[in-house]
Amino acid sequence: MDVIKIDIDTKKILLSIFKPVVEILESNLKYDYVYDDVNLTGYIDKSIEPAANKETFAFKYGTGKIYDRVVNHLSHLGEKYIIEKFDYRFWNMHDQEPLIRFHRYYEMPDNDEYRFFPHYDYGTITFSYCYNDVRGMQWKTIDDLDWKDMKYDQNELKVFFGQIMDDFCFGKTYHRMINSEPEKIRYSLTCHFDLQQKFLGSDTVKKRLGIK
Ligand SMILES: [Fe+2]
Repeated sequence: MDVIKIDIDTKKILLSIFKPVVEILESNLKYDYVYDDVNLTGYIDKSIEPAANKETFAFKYGTGKIYDRVVNHLSHLGEKYIIEKFDYRFWNMHDQEPLIRFHRYYEMPDNDEYRFFPHYDYGTITFSYCYNDVRGMQWKTIDDLDWKDMKYDQNELKVFFGQIMDDFCFGKTYHRMINSEPEKIRYSLTCHFDLQQKFLGSDTVKKRLGIK
């Protein structure tokens, strides 16, 4: 796992959608954002993503002005990160519009071990931002024996390496969410970068995300 310290502009942009998205998720408005199974955008709950104890509002460019600002900004951060960390050629292999997912983890019964079972993400790089301090997110690589707690910091993006990074000889970041604070709702945002379809053959994001 890697960490990016964010500047005040990035933080403001990430915070700008918090209230509007929470309002959508906490009302019937969410049903207006019908799940699009090609772009994987819209409102997603357990009926679509059965393994997750959360609901998700997923968007790409074209959802609206405030959302487009987030997509543009995070796309530029991704470009900068991938070029600096790897090279320009690797960035050019990417679909340059990331999929953004805003997650609201439900309160959980405290006898359930996981809020999200251990997994790695589907693409190359995921940026993850947590809006509130709710413990339970942990990570490890295949070489680590133990899970490590992910520390909450509202001035950081966490960077996970996804499944595709294995093909480029970089280790995947496994992560899970244990049920440390079952009574608290957790709000977070993930930004998923992936290669263009021509480099993925017949593999689809949908299949890799494990959603219907
Ligand atoms: Fe994940």
